[in-house]
Amino acid sequence: MKHWRMDDVAWDRFDGAKVDPEILALVKAAAMVERNGIDYGTYLNRVFADDPDFRAAADRWSLEEVQHGDTLGRWAMLADPSWDFEAAFERYKAGYHLPLLEAEKSVRGSRTGELIARCMVESGTSSYYSALADAAQEPVLRDICRLIAADEFRHFKLFYDHMKRYLTRERIGIWRRIRIAAGRIGESEDDELAYAFYCGNAAPGTPYRHEKAIAGYMSRAMTMYRYHHMARATGMILKAVGLRPHGRFFTVAARAAWWLMCSRRQKFLAVAREA
Ligand SMILES: [Fe+2]
Ligand SMILES: [Fe+2]
Repeated sequence: MKHWRMDDVAWDRFDGAKVDPEILALVKAAAMVERNGIDYGTYLNRVFADDPDFRAAADRWSLEEVQHGDTLGRWAMLADPSWDFEAAFERYKAGYHLPLLEAEKSVRGSRTGELIARCMVESGTSSYYSALADAAQEPVLRDICRLIAADEFRHFKLFYDHMKRYLTRERIGIWRRIRIAAGRIGESEDDELAYAFYCGNAAPGTPYRHEKAIAGYMSRAMTMYRYHHMARATGMILKAVGLRPHGRFFTVAARAAWWLMCSRRQKFLAVAREA
């Protein structure tokens, strides 16, 4: 059972005067990445082939991710009636393929690792949609982002609970867990988001340049965050790798993450301005 449906959104409250073009550009990119969740669901089904409970949960999860994409896409078309979600998504699918589409085993080396990587993604998405909900002025988008953020927090818990179960069997060490987590966080600057930003926003015929696209995306996305969003994500990341999500170490880690994000944002802003 999904926790909400697209028709639950009060679409008639849409206020075009309150659309922020910077946020609209981000929503167009997010719509495509979310809708692509169905491919990730297929991959998880193969990796966890002999675990019917998890496979059922992964199927429900991927349907929720697709709904995130469809809802964001519908909102973006309201905000920009000239934008064609289907056409943009087709371009995205034609040019970007999940690198793990053919994998039979987890590309993270273990099922625990796979689930830690999923926890990293859900830490990122839950904090991101919370930040977008707080930054947006348009009332329908605020509601949509709150609904999606609540799903993403539940997704984190889902993957975290299964990860704990596998960890008792696979017993992978803390350093390996940290390496997997850090690796997945670093992948956020790969093509998945950058190419979605390009397909959603570049004029037809514009050549794709990764550096320009990821700077365009990240410079805007990172501007949405406030410290408390980053602190919450940091706590979730620590918890997923088996470290305490509170106390002195947490405070140091949250401040370091915030500082790192601010300096990355400056770098991306500089690249985006140049481009
Ligand atoms: Fe999502
Ligand atoms: Fe999610």
